[in-house]
Amino acid sequence: MSEQNLLNMSDLVSLCKRRGFIFQSSEIYGGLGSCWDYGPLGIELKNNIKNSWWRSMTYREDVEGVDASILMHPTTWKASGHIDNFSDPLVDCKACKSRFRADQIDLKAACPNCAEKDSFTEPREFNLMFQTFMGPVQDSASVVYLRPETAQGIFVNFLNVQSTMRKKLPFGIAQIGKAFRNEITPGNFIFRTREFEQMEMQYFVKPGTQKESMESWKEIRYNWHLNNGLRAEKLRFHPHGEGELAHYADAALDIEYEFPIGWGEMEGIHSRTDFDLKQHQEFSGKNLHYVDQLDGNNKYLPYVIETSVGCDRSLLAILCDAYRLENKGQEDERVVMKFKPSLAPIKVAVLPLVKKEKLDTPAKKLLADLQQDYKCEYDVAGSIGKRYRRQDEIGTPFCITFDFDSLEDNAVTIRDRDSMKQERISLDKVKEYLKQKI
Ligand code: GAP
Repeated sequence: MSEQNLLNMSDLVSLCKRRGFIFQSSEIYGGLGSCWDYGPLGIELKNNIKNSWWRSMTYREDVEGVDASILMHPTTWKASGHIDNFSDPLVDCKACKSRFRADQIDLKAACPNCAEKDSFTEPREFNLMFQTFMGPVQDSASVVYLRPETAQGIFVNFLNVQSTMRKKLPFGIAQIGKAFRNEITPGNFIFRTREFEQMEMQYFVKPGTQKESMESWKEIRYNWHLNNGLRAEKLRFHPHGEGELAHYADAALDIEYEFPIGWGEMEGIHSRTDFDLKQHQEFSGKNLHYVDQLDGNNKYLPYVIETSVGCDRSLLAILCDAYRLENKGQEDERVVMKFKPSLAPIKVAVLPLVKKEKLDTPAKKLLADLQQDYKCEYDVAGSIGKRYRRQDEIGTPFCITFDFDSLEDNAVTIRDRDSMKQERISLDKVKEYLKQKI
């Protein structure tokens, strides 16, 4: 058996559209630049990833969850530095009006779009935050921003969570939510978009302990990606050098994945010092000090280790990693998405051998039973081979065939997606079998 990994992003984009994972946003109107809609299978996969993250990050004693509002008081963004610093240098081509990030092109070269020479404007700073207005009056006093990261919703709730949940350092606050950035050069499918979801956690620690905390989170986060089924050889750390560090960080590293477009950041782990709490304390005038009862009621601003992973990027890595083309060019060629079973959008397909009421009724009964625990599909259309191929392409780990013998022996055939091996399992053992495998 030969096996080929995903080589071109376009193969994945077309599978995602054809099979209902991801569609272009507002497609019937010609689409909207770099915005995407998750279809029925995409949202299942995404929810499974979010659940996996939420369980691993918050089902522990020292981390609590929140869901903060997307719109925040505009001073938040003054305090965080986003109004003054969250920008990219932008140039326009005077001839064809194309727009580029100045740090991504050679300003002395010809325009990559129209080949005109000496055509670039001077670089201007372009703020990446989306603005809108709150209330009926559209003036500068009513400007609010769509949050460009979820982190600030955590910082402003630091004391609320600490006091209501009676937390002692070290502890963390986790959140999953949408973020918006008016990216100048979005693209590569869902890798860089203008609307995306982040899964972020801020871990508050006693100053001086940030290094060991960062080491520990680095390992936990790397293992989460491995545990989602990503292959170790496609994962690596990228530590940030002095010049790469964000204005708030004293250390940082990325977890990168080798996409078909090359190595790209999936997650950032940042040691943010007390920068954010200090800024919010100054701009709000509220005392955000933590009183350390274990250290003689010493008062201080905690330091923060942040873990920040893009849900869509993690999903893209999982899609890329799962994609396999087997036996290319041969009669038994198949595309199979080898998702880890717990992440697969559909866990079980129930397939009556032929479309006959005699099989349909008991097969539907089995489906209803399994649906209490798993997202399932029921398919009677076409040959069994074609139905298996469709389930392989959407990554369904188990196909259950209900045939005429099933009526006699009360057993069904369960086919494993990866090995394609089939096992005859008694109906009353099916749930136990699936539970063990999923
Ligand atoms: N709070 C820290 C923060 O936002 P970041 O490195 O700018 O740090 C964290 O973003 C993660 O969010 C990235 O590693 C990436 O996975 C995801 N992300 C950032 N910008 C994105 C975009 N335009 N589209 C999709 N995901 C994005």
